[in-house]
Amino acid sequence: MNHAGMLALVKKRKRPVEAGAQGQVEVKFKEVTLYLVERKMGSSRRNFLTSLARSKGFRVEDVLSDDVTHVVAEDNQAEVLWAWLMGHGLRDVSRVAVLDISWFTDSMREGRPVRVETRHCIQDVMEELAESSEFNQSKGPCLAFRQAASVLKSLPSAVHCLEAIQGLPCLGEHTKAVMEEILTFGRSFKVEEIRCDERYQALKLFTSVFGVGPKTAEKWYRRGLRSLQEILTEPNIQLNRMQRAGFLYYSDISKAVSKAEAKALGCIIEETVHWIAPDAILALTGGFRRGKEYGHDVDFLLTMPEMGKEEGLLLHVIDRLKDQGILLYCEYQGSTFDVSKLPSCRFEDMDCFQKCFLILRLEQGQVAGERGLQRDPGDSRGWRAVRVDLVAPPVDRYAFALLGWTGSKQFGRDLRTFAQKERLMLLDNHALYDKTKKLCLLATTEEDIFAHLGLEYVEPWQRNA
Ligand code: UTP
Ligand code: MN
Repeated sequence: MNHAGMLALVKKRKRPVEAGAQGQVEVKFKEVTLYLVERKMGSSRRNFLTSLARSKGFRVEDVLSDDVTHVVAEDNQAEVLWAWLMGHGLRDVSRVAVLDISWFTDSMREGRPVRVETRHCIQDVMEELAESSEFNQSKGPCLAFRQAASVLKSLPSAVHCLEAIQGLPCLGEHTKAVMEEILTFGRSFKVEEIRCDERYQALKLFTSVFGVGPKTAEKWYRRGLRSLQEILTEPNIQLNRMQRAGFLYYSDISKAVSKAEAKALGCIIEETVHWIAPDAILALTGGFRRGKEYGHDVDFLLTMPEMGKEEGLLLHVIDRLKDQGILLYCEYQGSTFDVSKLPSCRFEDMDCFQKCFLILRLEQGQVAGERGLQRDPGDSRGWRAVRVDLVAPPVDRYAFALLGWTGSKQFGRDLRTFAQKERLMLLDNHALYDKTKKLCLLATTEEDIFAHLGLEYVEPWQRNA
C-alpha cells in the first residue's frame, strides 16, 4: 500500500469479491493448488501442462480463486503479471507464490511439488533496479524504484498502456522509461543490461550470504573475487563469526522457509519461551504473520505483561535453545532503548530493543506434512537450518514493535510517510509522536495506532504491498 492507498483508507475500504473454488479428483498434494497463466504460454500448452500436472496428482484450477497457492507463469514480466493478477479481485495476491515455469518443470520431474527457491521466483524488475541502485549507493533512485514496485503492485487493474501509468503518483522518469520498454517490447533492456553486469552479479551473490552487506561485498569485488568458492579459498579474507555461519549454512538458509516450517518453529519457540516464563506474550511477525506462504526467515516478538520483566528473557531463551541442541548460531544484541531519546526521526527500520539473530536446527519430523515424505535424493540428513529473529521490547512498546516487525518494509515506509505528511506525527518501531501536541501517544494494540493515525485498521495480510 502506498501513500495514496493510505489516503484511500481514511475513507471506506471496499471489500473484494470472493471467487468460488472448484473441486478435483485424486489429489496427492493437498497443500498446493496451481493455476497456470495462459498469457504468453498459450492455451494449448496450458491445457497440456494442466493435464500433465493433474495426472501426477496435482490440483490445478482453471479459474483463479482464493484457493490457489501457486501461480505459474512463463516469460512474464513481474510488473505486468502483478497488475494482471490484481485485476482478479483476490483477497490478497501477495499470499500466493508467483513462480516461473522452472518451478513447475522441476516439480513435474520430481513428481511432487519441489521446494520454492529464489531462482523459481519471477524477477521483479523494479526490485532489481532498486537493488542495483543500492549497490551504487544511490539512495534516491533506490527508494524511487522500491516505491514504483509497490505502486505497480497495488494498481487496481492491469497496466495496458503507458498513458495509464503516466498519471500515477510516485513514478519518476526512470521508472516510466522502464515501464515503457516493458509495455512496448515485453522486456526491459536496462534491466537486462544490469543482469549481465559482472559487478551486479557478484554483489548480489555476495550479499546473499548471511552477514555480508553491500560494503563487504564491494570490498571483495574490488579485490577481484567473483565466486563464493574464491572467497572461501582466498587466504587473506577474514570472515567474522556471522559470515562464517552464513557460509556454513548457505545452502539451507538460501532455501525458502515454508509456512509449515514456520509453524513448526512457532511451536518450538512457544514451548521454549513458556517453559521459561509461562505468562510471556509471544507473536509471530514478519511475512508469515502477513500470511505469506514462504519467507527468508521466521520472526517472533516476545514480551512480559509486567514492565521490566522482559529484561534477560532472551538470554534465557537462548540458553534453553542451546540445551535442546538446536542452536546453530546466535548473535545477541542487548537493549539500547532509552525513553528519554524519543521521538526519533530515524526512517530506517533499525530499532533499539533487545534481539537476537539465530540459526536454528529444524528436524524434518517436526514439520507437518513432511513426516515420512520422500525428500530430495541426497538430502537424507533429516533436518535443515533456518534463520530466526527474536525481538523483546518492553510491553508498553509492544504494539509499535509488532506493527514495525510485521512489515512489509514498504508498508512501514508508506505508513511513516503518511503519519508525517498527513498527520504531523513521527512513527517508528518504538513510538508515535504527535508533533502538534508535543507528546507520545499510547497504544496497547495495533488498532490503537491506526486509530491515532485516523486510519481504518489494516489487517496483516493486507500489508503486503
Ligand atoms: P524481514 O526482513 O524478516 O522481512 O523483516 P519479511 O517481511 O518477514 O520477509 P521475508 O523474511 O524476507 O520473507 C520483517 C519486518 O521487520 C522489519 C522490517 O522492516 C520488516 O517489515 N524490521 C526488520 C525491523 O523493523 N527492524 C529490523 O531491524 C529488521
Ligand atoms: Mn521475515
